[in-house]
Parts: sequence; structure tokens; C-alpha cells
Amino acid sequence: MAQNLSVLIVGSGAREHAISNSYEKSTQVEKIIVAPGNDFACYKRKKEVIIDKNCSLKDPQSILRIAEEYKPDLVDVAQDDALAKGTVDLLQENKFQVFGPTRNVARIEWDKKWSREFMERQGIVQPEFRYFDNENSAKQYVEEIYEKDLGKLLYVKATGLCSGKGALKSVNLEQAIKNIKCMKNFPDGAGELFLVEEGLTGEEFSYYAISDGKSHYLFKSAQDNKTIFNFDKGDQTGGMGAVCPEMATKNLVSEIEEQMISKAIKGMAMEGVPYKGILYLGGIIDKGKPMNIEYNARWGDPECQVVLPSIKTDYVDIIRACLKEKLKEIEIHQDNKTRVCVVGASRGYPKDYSQAKVKRIFGIEKAMNLEGVTILGAGINIEDGKFYANGGRLFSVVGEGDDILEAKQKAYSAIAGINVEGNNLHYRTDIGWRDVERFLKEG
Ligand code: GLY
Repeated sequence: MAQNLSVLIVGSGAREHAISNSYEKSTQVEKIIVAPGNDFACYKRKKEVIIDKNCSLKDPQSILRIAEEYKPDLVDVAQDDALAKGTVDLLQENKFQVFGPTRNVARIEWDKKWSREFMERQGIVQPEFRYFDNENSAKQYVEEIYEKDLGKLLYVKATGLCSGKGALKSVNLEQAIKNIKCMKNFPDGAGELFLVEEGLTGEEFSYYAISDGKSHYLFKSAQDNKTIFNFDKGDQTGGMGAVCPEMATKNLVSEIEEQMISKAIKGMAMEGVPYKGILYLGGIIDKGKPMNIEYNARWGDPECQVVLPSIKTDYVDIIRACLKEKLKEIEIHQDNKTRVCVVGASRGYPKDYSQAKVKRIFGIEKAMNLEGVTILGAGINIEDGKFYANGGRLFSVVGEGDDILEAKQKAYSAIAGINVEGNNLHYRTDIGWRDVERFLKEG
């Protein structure tokens, strides 16, 4: 790959903004295109960053047209729908250099039934599950479960992609039946086939590995906060905040890497679909044991916003080594900072937030100039230099520090200065609370 590279990043959120920051830091990159991106991702950048909204993440041909227009040296497909639709395959067929798993490989995310069966074949620890394609047999199954165990925690999960909102929790029969009925409401038939899974309780964690199909490198851990309200209450969202590193798995890293990362990567290779790209493990510590909740085929959002900035090695060198299947030959360094990300969302998200649309966002400019703070755009439109809300999750505020307290203080003092007209900004105020408590306890 030559120097003065141009890189096309496929995706639209704060995750893709964070990825663009990593490429921007590379001395080898001159120009970045984010498609479809968001207005804030190209605001006041050090290098040339172009946003091209003329595409759909569910339409690989539209991404190909963008690639043909800009002729990037490298394409990084970062978003789940685009991966599931085979964007990587199409771009590769058209001779582009692409980072990201092909459709067959990304199946580990977009087909949750296949993924669970894969884990079963590979002996990866996971909750008990059954899958169904009709409401009646699923109802009968949950009736049997609640007859034996009244308060059982169960998840009904769409097998297809649902922007992180496809897993519905129940602790009684009535809720379980309601959740089963909801499966038919997911777009694109994502819930036509669905799983009923034993619910696990404990602390959740996320790990990310880059894999070239033969070897991998494990990045620092993170913890997402998926529900809309504090105390892990309310509806599931795409993610309302994250910390990196999280402390809950401090003594479990080797076990997690061996049992869930290496096993998956070896297993995919054995099954003829070598894993090339970012492998995302979502796990939970249930009764002291790490268990698999799911695999995804990309960086998580908002975890990416806190994990990626810790990578000190030139990101292009890492991606290049991965594409050449020479990951083993590169040394990857990460810093020792702690990062906390708080997601700013439109009030009402993930339900109806239409009242917040096109409302002004104030305070962004000041927040982005604070030391140790990075603002990453998601649902932000910019017109005549003014910022407007355009979506559910609007932006991510990332604070970095030498410890969790400093990182959290930075993130929250920055977001405290941001407002969405008409009191339309919502964010959680408890991101990082578990690690703050651990940190303070340990003294
Ligand atoms: N952090 C949740 C997700 O990216 O799916």
C-alpha cells in the first residue's frame, strides 16, 4: 500500500467517527471518506474528511458506487447491516482492498441461530437456547418453563439484526408471551425465526480482537450500558455509554481469550470461514464464570469510542498486517489511560423522539475544546455552522484520564455543558459506576 492513502469508512455513527480518528492519526493517511457518515464527523478535522450520504448501508451497490467515485486505497466496512448485506464481498469482487468480514464470516452476528449452533459445535460456554419459527410452539415452551420456575429470567431474541434491540427480557409468562408476539414486528423479518434463551445475571463485558484468520490480537476490555435509564432500567438501546478498560474481568482475561476468542477464531477456520476482521465478544460473568452472550462481526458502539483511542500503533499498519495475514509480525501497543463514553440522545429515544428532531444542539463547540475530551457525532446535522438533532443517539462524549474518576469527571463535565433546545437531551448519569465503586473501595 502506498503512502498518502485515502480510506473509505462505511457507517454513520459515533463509532465510525472514532474509526476515522484512528485513520486520521496515521501518518500514511491523507484523505478519509465516511459514507454515509454524519455532518459532525467532518467538522473541524485535521485532515481532509469527506462525508458522502448518497448511499444506504443496506444497499451494497450504493456503497460500490461511492467506492468507484473516490477510488480509496482501503475500505473499512464497520457497520453490521453493511456487513450482513455482503458489502465486503461486493467491494472485493470489484478489486477494492477491504477490511471487514465477508457475509459468510459475519454470519456469526447476523444469524444468531447459526451463531449459537457454532458455539455448541466449538464447545463455547453459552446459555441454554431453543429456536422457533412459530408463536405457538414457543408459547408452549415458555409455559412449561414458567410452570417449573415462576420467576425465571428468559430472553426472546430475534435471529436477525435489530440495531442492538432484538433481545427482549421476561421474568414471567405474561412478559414472555408478549415478547414472543413482538418478534413479528422487527423490520426485514429479523424476528421470523427467534431464540428463547436462558437469561444470565451478572456483569456484562465486551472484548474485541482483530483476527487475520490465523492469529489475533486482543484489545482492552470495555463495558457497555445498554438500557436507556440509570440502574440498567428501561428499554434496550444501541448503547448509552461505555468504559475502557472495565475492571470486572481483570482476572479472567486469559480464560476469556482462550475459551471464547481463540476457540471462535480456530473454529471459524476449521469450518472453512476463517475470521478476518474485528471479532466482538459480548459476555457476562455469571456466578463467577464468563459466559458468551453473543459474537458480533465489528466494533461495538459505544465501546469502539473508548477502546480504539487507546491503540498507539499506527492503525494502518495494523490493518495492513491483518489483510496480509501477518498480524503475528506486528507489535501492537495500547496506552494505560481509562476512558468513559457518555452517549447524548434525543429525549424519548429509543421510543418516539420526533419532538427533538431539528432542535438546536448548544454547547458542542465549547465541549470539544476541553482537554481530555473528544466529541464524536452520530445524529447531528450542521447548517450554517449551527448543530441540529437528527436521530436517536446524537453524539458520544469521551473523557480520558489516568483513572476512572478522572475519565468520568471529564466526560460528565463536558456533557453538562451541552443542551438540546427544549430540554430534549437525555443521557445516563451512572456510566462507569461499578468501576468507580471498585476504584474507591481499593483506595
Ligand atoms: N454495544 C452494542 C453493539 O454495538 O451492538
